[in-house]
Amino acid sequence: MSYYDYIIVGSGIAGLYSALLAKEVGSVLVLTKGSIEECNTRYAQGGIAAPIGKNDSAELHFQDTIAAGDGLCNPEAVRILVDEAPERIADLIKFGVPFDTLDGEIALTKEAAHSVPRIIHAGGDATGEHIEVTLSQQVRMSSIEVLEYCLATQILIDNDKVRGIRALDCRTGLVTEYECRFIILATGGAGRLFKYTTNSEVATGDGIALAFQAAAEVTDMEFFQFHPTALRLPGVPPFLISEAVRGEGGILRNVEGYHFMPDYIPEADLAPRDIVARSILHEMIKTGSDRVFLDVTHISPRLITTRFPHIYRFCLDHGLDITKGLVPVAPAAHYFMGGVKVNSWGETNIAGLFAAGETACTGVHGANRLASNSLLEVVVFSKRIIERSREIEKVIPSSRTTEVEHHSLSQREVSHNAPRLNLPNLQSLLWDKVGIVRSGEGLDEAADTLAAWQSSLPQPIDRPSYELNNMIFNARLMTEAALLRQESRGAHFRTDFPESLPNWQKHTIFKATGAT
Ligand code: FAD
Ligand code: SIN
Repeated sequence: MSYYDYIIVGSGIAGLYSALLAKEVGSVLVLTKGSIEECNTRYAQGGIAAPIGKNDSAELHFQDTIAAGDGLCNPEAVRILVDEAPERIADLIKFGVPFDTLDGEIALTKEAAHSVPRIIHAGGDATGEHIEVTLSQQVRMSSIEVLEYCLATQILIDNDKVRGIRALDCRTGLVTEYECRFIILATGGAGRLFKYTTNSEVATGDGIALAFQAAAEVTDMEFFQFHPTALRLPGVPPFLISEAVRGEGGILRNVEGYHFMPDYIPEADLAPRDIVARSILHEMIKTGSDRVFLDVTHISPRLITTRFPHIYRFCLDHGLDITKGLVPVAPAAHYFMGGVKVNSWGETNIAGLFAAGETACTGVHGANRLASNSLLEVVVFSKRIIERSREIEKVIPSSRTTEVEHHSLSQREVSHNAPRLNLPNLQSLLWDKVGIVRSGEGLDEAADTLAAWQSSLPQPIDRPSYELNNMIFNARLMTEAALLRQESRGAHFRTDFPESLPNWQKHTIFKATGAT
């Protein structure tokens, strides 16, 4: 049986960056279910937020992050995020990430709800690709063992401590157990739950489902962020049109050509994401259209083609020159604020189990993530995971001592009228009933259908069937958390409870009962 100090599940920025730090401390195995570069990270466009500009400060970044989080950020975690940001950006530069510069300094752009330009980017709008390629090259050149096409299917626990992981080789069908001291779950988000999504195929919430099944706490599952502007063209995937495009002056118009955002909020096109997404939806309903338009025709074509070469090229390849014509857009599922509950050292409630990146919930995003804070969160908290694991013999293991209220998945009467379970039906259900605008009635209906689907699931045998299982787990947790939260806050909006309520300024936490 193979034994490692660290087993890291996932090869996006969280997995690769953690692996590169962990190899300085011990032996490392990275498991990833596709090729090393298949992940959400490589599609990141806007960039990484960091308070390094002349008119910026950690305090200002702290305030913007807290304001976007709508009362649910963990201030201690946000303080860590903004204070440790400059050093972590320096680490990425040392690894070789070629951030864009202007007049010899790192170039900064603006995104919604940031009070100053503070977004660092690479290759214009290809930040994620540059990060992923740089880190994966570093990993390949190192002593780190990487198993591609290897799907983690179970966290193995002994005496309340991590023992290892069970994994399926997707190419041979062989199941193997790997033992270790520490597991870092870096499995990314769950955006594939929704019909319209900017996320890649890997985003099926596996880490959250595995952690939940191992009795780890998961939290804030009702908070899923919808990006306001994904391309909406028939037969074309909802490719992201970065918020930085609005940061550079792009404006939203409805199908009648009207610039509507100033009617909704003074910050207009650069208001927080949840507000822009809901305003777009409202405008789409009002005008009876499935889209609005992003207008950049007033911006210099040179700026557009040099700042956003990928977006420009992608649209051109689909017959649209964005310097000349309006870009059809609509909201799409984008980022999971909820996830595996971790403390400020990335530790879960299970000794030896850490979570990093989008699969974790550190509390920095609260009810609504500030744009470009997620890549930053990954590097700041991954570094802290490795620091903590070095010290682990000297500190008390992680099990939390504070009393928290846990919820478990509710027992529901199994409905026999549920539609047939398949991926498109699941994605439509989530989009329609657990999407940008929710209601108690719709959530209840979704919860019943999901419970019926879960009870009919056969034993998984391959990657698609494991992923479907995991998605149903995530969908159930999301729906039940959304039902519990009888208010509206951040990205969670309910028509039957449209206001934020002071007694709901708290987190939902789910933990499986009787899980081993
Ligand atoms: P990922 O990069 O998604 O990596 C997850 C990895 O886990 C993958 O390698 C996957 O194959 C593997 N995996 C999953 N399940 C298993 C399993 N069961 N077994 C083995 N391996 C598994 N954020 C910003 O801060 N700035 C941006 O500009 C930005 N732009 C974005 C643009 C797009 C289009 C999208 C989709 C997201 C964007 N985000 C942005 C969000 C950000 O990119 C992600 O939150 C971040 O990259 C997540 O990194 P990660 O390492 O946690 O997950
Ligand atoms: C974008 O470029 O609009 C995405 C930024 C993010 O999700 O943080």
